[in-house]
Amino acid sequence: MRYLVTGGAGFIGSHIAEELLRRGHSVAVFDDLSSGKEANLAHLAGKVELHKASVCDSAKVAGACRGADYVIHLAARTSVPRSILEPVETNHVNVDGTLNVLIAARDTKVKRVVFAASSSAYGETPALPKKESMEPAPISPYGVTKLVGELYAQVCGRVYGLENVSLRYFNVFGPRQDPTSQYSGVLSRFITALLDGQTPVVFGDGEQSRDFTYVANVVDATLRACEAPGASGKVFNVGTGERFTLNETLRLLGKISGKNAKAKYDPPRTGDIRDSQADISLARKILGYHPSVAFEEGLKRTWEWYASTYQK
Ligand code: UD1
Repeated sequence: MRYLVTGGAGFIGSHIAEELLRRGHSVAVFDDLSSGKEANLAHLAGKVELHKASVCDSAKVAGACRGADYVIHLAARTSVPRSILEPVETNHVNVDGTLNVLIAARDTKVKRVVFAASSSAYGETPALPKKESMEPAPISPYGVTKLVGELYAQVCGRVYGLENVSLRYFNVFGPRQDPTSQYSGVLSRFITALLDGQTPVVFGDGEQSRDFTYVANVVDATLRACEAPGASGKVFNVGTGERFTLNETLRLLGKISGKNAKAKYDPPRTGDIRDSQADISLARKILGYHPSVAFEEGLKRTWEWYASTYQK
């Protein structure tokens, strides 16, 4: 089968591309390299066809979709705080870009589009764990764009017959996550701070919690979503079903690294949610998904990867 992975030079996308190749599929990556990096695909060089363009360029998206059996759409502005500073830009890439991908997939008769949605769709509602049947209530422009992407995917299913699945990823982490921006995922920030001999910075009291999901679990769920019967038109949580506070993750990191993982506490970040945890029973039932790498094991693998590759 031929897969097009938008955002395939990014952190999650490059892991998906790698696993698809390992399974013997043909892979094209569509990425404007705004946050993705060619270096993420360096170990796959010569095996992946790279289209360097933005999902906002509808003609280029259509060209890349031609001949694809499945499209996995990850290309996005992924940061919650950045979406607060740059809502129009985030909306343009995440909403217009997603619609471009869906329409191109329709026109080129792609079998199914799998869309990387987000747990941020749930917002601040207190009930945990989050179930897909709960009313979405995003509290950041980013969360809104990801929810709109799901709605567009479903509407393209209804009105054009385009098969679609949306996956609400919960705080993905692992090797190749870019730690260098102030918007980077918290675990990549904590780990590289410790490697640099710096003090990790916690925004708030550190008692906020997340369902941190190791990237291999997300890859597994995403590839299942491409083919699972009965999945089209649906939204699935992709997490582990557990949650850890930032203070707990620092204690674990201290244990794994043997370093002093004491944090500096700064004021909380606007747009942040307090707690997040997935109910993954729907993904278990319909996708046959089972998170095979537990949080601590994922954290250990991630620490080891940064410790062996990271240079300031
Ligand atoms: C993350 C994802 C987002 C995804 C969402 C739901 C990233 C960059 N963002 O958002 O794409 O849709 O999960 O799965 O991966 N924090 C610190 N210190 C730091 C950095 C962050 O204390 O140096 C705190 C934040 O204030 C927040 C928590 O850690 O309370 C998690 O932040 P972050 O990793 O940015 O993820 P989310 O905002 O949850």
